[in-house]
Amino acid sequence: MAEQVRTFVMVKPDGVRRGLVGEVIGRIEAKGYSLAEIKLFTIDRGLAEEHYGEHAEKPFFGELVDFITSGPVVAMVVQGPDSVVSMRKIMGATNPIEAEPGSIRGDLATVITENIVHGSDSEESAAREIKLFFG
Ligand code: RTP
Ligand code: MG
Repeated sequence: MAEQVRTFVMVKPDGVRRGLVGEVIGRIEAKGYSLAEIKLFTIDRGLAEEHYGEHAEKPFFGELVDFITSGPVVAMVVQGPDSVVSMRKIMGATNPIEAEPGSIRGDLATVITENIVHGSDSEESAAREIKLFFG
């Protein structure tokens, strides 16, 4: 059996507001991944600032924290072979206009500030984010 890699994935507040939780999870499961953890909750500012700490000096940081705390998210741990790299492909490029059709962002979003989904960008980030959100 291939190695089961765990990654952190989150449906952002825009995805929850638009009723796309099922669509996102459906694509993840259809690919062949499984959910190891899942919870719906609203992120507080402290957790948002820690999660997106790598962007603290960027001009869009305040807007990013405001957005990610603006309503409930669905946080999950996704598990399966090469899940970190593969989830980034399933999500598509950060800017939905550049994301390939067939990807979540390419099919379902139009603006970079509301791109529906988050996925860890490395196995190190995944370990850090899973600990942050699920302890
Ligand atoms: P994420 O962390 O949310 O999964 O997205 P990502 O890895 O594809 O992109 P990242 O560079 O980590 O950026 C985090 C989020 O910040 C917002 N962003 N806004 N206004 C801007 O120029 C800008 N650049 C990035 C996006 O919503 C991105 O998902
Ligand atoms: Mg990122």
